[in-house]
Amino acid sequence: MTTKITKAIFPVAGLGTRFLPATKALPKEMLPVVDKPLIQYAVEEAYAAGIREMIFVNGRNKRAIPDHFDTAYELETEMEAAGKTELLETVRSIKPDDMHCIYLRQPKALGLGHAVLCAEPVVREEPFAVLLADDLMVGEPPVLKQMVEQFNDWRTSILAVQEVPAEHTRRYGIVSGRPVGERMLDLTGIVEKPAPEVAPSRLGVAGRYILTPGIFKEIRNQPRGVGGEIQLTDGIAGLLRREKVFAYTYQGQRYDCGSKEGFLQANVELALAHPTLGAEFKRYLDARYGVA
Ligand code: G1P
Repeated sequence: MTTKITKAIFPVAGLGTRFLPATKALPKEMLPVVDKPLIQYAVEEAYAAGIREMIFVNGRNKRAIPDHFDTAYELETEMEAAGKTELLETVRSIKPDDMHCIYLRQPKALGLGHAVLCAEPVVREEPFAVLLADDLMVGEPPVLKQMVEQFNDWRTSILAVQEVPAEHTRRYGIVSGRPVGERMLDLTGIVEKPAPEVAPSRLGVAGRYILTPGIFKEIRNQPRGVGGEIQLTDGIAGLLRREKVFAYTYQGQRYDCGSKEGFLQANVELALAHPTLGAEFKRYLDARYGVA
């Protein structure tokens, strides 16, 4: 098994029903936070962690995602002719030359575990990362980079976790474990979306994972889980019986852009932090609401 993380899986086949009507024809991963689609934030995070092979597990009606990471020949030619070099650079930087994109299809919406399993023929025997674009992570260093650095020390699967309110345990995979470092737990259990009364802790999994290839066999052997779906969490629970799995309390901020509230918060906070828009937007909020 090679131990360098070179590949990231982006499960992007979901229907995005929580954002209807916006997502009737537009993939939810293409919703912009300020001026960039959610999927671009996730891809940039993987790139910053040293990953160069981006594997998208896509679904029907989601052509906009491959188009976004493709060359926009007409657009680029026009911008070049018009001398709009800064905009041209912005468009070209979406896919740096040393980044490779691989597109797979998840033929049926059978769940997150199933989406990850779809990438097995490409990943094969290597450890890899999984990023859920719904979870927009802001951290310095970027959250996945923090995890890759931990992986280089521990050489085992690592899940990103954060403390969540007791009433929200039903939204997350919830872990239990023994501390092995300041921010690290050696996992003893993981359950998908438990009720608060039975949740083993209040540590919820955020949408960043580094997994060893042993996970594929475990996912294949799982029966359908919560919501009738093949759950990644159940595969991880299986993996835990054979290998060590760690949970890492990341440093940074997560915006749950799978919910309208989290999506709005991300837009406001990233707009305020934006290098060219931030100051003006803050003045507007101050003048209008006296709050920012
Ligand atoms: C998925 C996972 C869950 C994890 C969450 C993080 O759930 O199944 O374990 O905690 O992502 O965002 P989803 O949000 O897709 O329902």
